[in-house]
Amino acid sequence: MTTTTEATTVYGRPEFENVDIGDTMRDGHPDITDGDLLIVDLVRKRAEALGRALTVMDVGSGSGVVSELLARGLPGHRVIANEVEPHLIAQARARMAAVPNGEVFDRPFQEWSEPLDVVISWGSHHHLPNTYLDHVRSLLGEEGVLIIGDEFCPEYCDEADTAKVAAADVIHLADGLVLTTREEVAAYEADGTVPQWSRDLEDKRRRALWHWYKFVIDYAMDKDNWTVVLAELQITLDDLTTTFHEEHKLSPVIVQRDLELNGFRCLTANVIGNRPVDLQSFYLWEFAPTPRD
Ligand SMILES: C[S@@+](CC[C@H](N)C(=O)[O-])C[C@H]1O[C@@H](n2cnc3c(N)ncnc32)[C@H](O)[C@@H]1O
Repeated sequence: MTTTTEATTVYGRPEFENVDIGDTMRDGHPDITDGDLLIVDLVRKRAEALGRALTVMDVGSGSGVVSELLARGLPGHRVIANEVEPHLIAQARARMAAVPNGEVFDRPFQEWSEPLDVVISWGSHHHLPNTYLDHVRSLLGEEGVLIIGDEFCPEYCDEADTAKVAAADVIHLADGLVLTTREEVAAYEADGTVPQWSRDLEDKRRRALWHWYKFVIDYAMDKDNWTVVLAELQITLDDLTTTFHEEHKLSPVIVQRDLELNGFRCLTANVIGNRPVDLQSFYLWEFAPTPRD
């Protein structure tokens, strides 16, 4: 997907400096813990299949919850938590210091240059600049995989939308509106023209998100977790604001097409949360780089 902005997240806000937001989210938000366990399982299976020690990087690790689980669950494999926010780096360091095979890389992921066997992008994809996918491809060897899981948007593409997305030659966000061809991008850049389909799709996205966030906030409220309630209210406002680039959850179908267009093929697909599709937002996929020409 093509956009122009850099990432910031609610995780980096000053009010969370003295809490472990990774732990807090897992207490007050559905599906994250189930995703953690699935990630460890997928990496373990990968290690068994390859039969050698792996180097695993958790990009945008937050306070390092999954990095620690991986390092503890996979002794003998190198696990690197990667984070850029100072207080999260400190929390991740404290977690990883207790595990001999754990370490922290405290610079933007784009500055890492050693080969990797597994890149984990858990909750980070929709915050990272899209160029990170190119960087992942450049670091993964032939046997490497990208495990990408996120809170996307519950699927809002109908059959016709899905067919249009499948035929897309580009996924481009024009101030939050999805364009699917180079001609549409050229027209937008020339005079701001956006197809009606893109506007209608944005309306569907916002309605699907509103339904989802009400569920998430009620879940946190039931757990008396006011930190998550307040964080999610802010995230809701950010996400429903079409032009707010830093929080823009998209349809899983669109994200998958974007990954394909960026040189990845899907190996396994999982959805978390045994609920109707309008209340399923967490998807976890394994993608392998397609060979370069
Ligand atoms: C929503 S959080 C991810 C949560 C975390 N993976 C977990 O399991 O709790 C996204 C994180 O990505 C980090 N981040 C943003 N840009 C980054 C970059 N270029 N390199 C590494 N981390 C980045 C943010 O600081 C933020 O903590």
